[in-house]
Amino acid sequence: MKIIDVVVDVVRIPRQTGFICQHAIVQILTNEGVTGIGEMSDFSHLPKYSLDVNDLTATLKAQLVGRNPFELITLNQEMSELFPETMYYYEKGTFIRCGIDIALHDLVGKALGVNVSTLLGGRIRDRIKVCYPIFRSRTLEEVEANVEIVRKRFAQGFDVFRLYAGVNADADEAFLSAVKQEFGSQVTIKSLDFSHLLDWKSALRLTKRLLPYGVQLVESPATRNDTEGLRNFRMAIDLPVSEHVWSFKQLQDMIQRDAVDIFNIALIFIGGFSAARKAASAAEVAGKGVLIGTTQELSFGTAAQAIFGASLTNLNAISDPTGPELYVDDVTVEPVKYEDGFLIVPDAARPGLGMEIDWAKVDRLRVDGFSWGDQNVANLQDRTRAANE
Ligand code: LMR
Ligand code: MG
Repeated sequence: MKIIDVVVDVVRIPRQTGFICQHAIVQILTNEGVTGIGEMSDFSHLPKYSLDVNDLTATLKAQLVGRNPFELITLNQEMSELFPETMYYYEKGTFIRCGIDIALHDLVGKALGVNVSTLLGGRIRDRIKVCYPIFRSRTLEEVEANVEIVRKRFAQGFDVFRLYAGVNADADEAFLSAVKQEFGSQVTIKSLDFSHLLDWKSALRLTKRLLPYGVQLVESPATRNDTEGLRNFRMAIDLPVSEHVWSFKQLQDMIQRDAVDIFNIALIFIGGFSAARKAASAAEVAGKGVLIGTTQELSFGTAAQAIFGASLTNLNAISDPTGPELYVDDVTVEPVKYEDGFLIVPDAARPGLGMEIDWAKVDRLRVDGFSWGDQNVANLQDRTRAANE
């Protein structure tokens, strides 16, 4: 089997917050008529420059056309050389590698007539508990709208939430207090996510203030790549600490310094199934747990994350992928499903990822290429729309 073409479609899909995310759907076509699909999810993160989609497509074609898609290890190695690690959380090259690796797995699964789970060694669960994200309140006035989101989502079966915190301590406290008062033990706050916005001491001070409201863990409570700060925080507080994994070097640093309890692994931030499995294995060997993180993928990318999560022996915290519930639109025939706050892993009997793209939806949502609007930094960090937009 040989790859004969690579096609990249860019789609723009708003979230319910009004924030618009740009994703790429990549197709890898073969001479035997089997096509693998991948998702490069959510390029709408800093740094605020855009990829040229025509140039990206030409690069991918030059590397992949004529190649055997079953050579997953070799192709992944080559992609890592083309799009190297940078020790940066939102590195766009990692998103590209992820989309290609997902597409290759989808392709190989379809060619063999098996679900990608079979390629990963099977499943040990068919649903994954997830939490719904509450985006950061910068003012006290924003708190009530976030409590309303809890009401609405709780009614739909989501009973675990995570809070992006750290900019307005009074607003963070007001939110947690209101939720505790209204829902009591019916609602769990999985984590405070400081998104690297605070140095570890400031994060520690605020965590201690918010502890009485009850949270399960604290995420990213130090500036980016400050592994020593993470360790200092971890040693100073009686709660598990989680951090995203965005490079093998950073993962190695965190393991060496014993800086976290739980590694937050998402396919998109580490480069697909192959890289995520290595990261999860390293975590397991180091005696650490894993949760499935998210950039907030569409249904196709979320299915990939679910299949990855279904294979993990050390998935020991509540996970994050809820993208299909956040976006106002999607590109698959059927969305992935959520039940009682669990992400349901797509049907194991279906080949590849078991998800089908609805090309009429892609046609409707397609744009010529990636481009930025006039969002300011706070809106990009908080995934919200600027008041003046
Ligand atoms: C999102 O887009 O909602 C997340 O990727 C934000 C984040 O960095 O946690
Ligand atoms: Mg996070």
